[in-house]
Amino acid sequence: MSSRKTIIAGNWKMHKTRAEAAELAKAIVDGIKGQHELPEIVLCPPFTCLVDVKAAVGSARIAVGAQNMEHRDSGAFTGEISPSMIKDVGATYIVIGHSERRQYYGETNSTVNLKLKSALHHKLIPIVCVGESLDEREADLTDSVVSRQVGAALADLSKDELAPLVVAYEPIWAIGTGKICDSKEANRVAAMIRSTINELYHGTSFGDTVPVLYGGSVKASTIEEQMKQPDIDGALVGGASLKAEEFLPIIAGGAKRVQLATSNK
Ligand code: 13P
Repeated sequence: MSSRKTIIAGNWKMHKTRAEAAELAKAIVDGIKGQHELPEIVLCPPFTCLVDVKAAVGSARIAVGAQNMEHRDSGAFTGEISPSMIKDVGATYIVIGHSERRQYYGETNSTVNLKLKSALHHKLIPIVCVGESLDEREADLTDSVVSRQVGAALADLSKDELAPLVVAYEPIWAIGTGKICDSKEANRVAAMIRSTINELYHGTSFGDTVPVLYGGSVKASTIEEQMKQPDIDGALVGGASLKAEEFLPIIAGGAKRVQLATSNK
């Protein structure tokens, strides 16, 4: 088991009113009370609920993140939210390049790179999402697509700048479909992402320090097997993060991995 951080992140997508979001965050806080060996827990509600969720988690060991951002600081960009605004509400994480952003809002590998640079500049912890479509998987293009996404996202950034980087491998065909990517296969792609990063930084072992999460139909019933994989350091959870009774067992799955890592030290 590696010394990389274990992270369980909930991407709430476009769900929850402010009151519902605060209620869910409070239920998660209550659910982890008294537990010490926890994974890093990150809640990513819609922008409108960030303040409420931040207030609801209070001093609990739960970080808050946004699901997207504009890369520029301020200006005439109607409808956009800047990194400093996200920091201003107390969020510390930012999801970048989610496949739904790429699919519905025209985000590309180069906008992902701009956002990553900006997030690092503003000291937000980036969770960069990569993953192949079903057509790409069936055409045996998974590794080339994913490694290209990783290379483009990290372009022009030094490994020192990238120290806080987190990557999420989210095969598009597994998102919201109930079709789970086999854990061993997800582990293989996670390891491939890591070796791609090592190659990008000229044979260093920087990639070995980068947490790689898996996302796509993660549930309480799948997390145990996923957390047994040596190269999967956590989960980015959509649907199952919207109810405390479904998300808490996933956090517990992450906690087991943390305990195992501690006992192997
Ligand atoms: P689901 O867990 O609903 O498949 O969503 C995964 C995801 O897109 C997380 O970012």
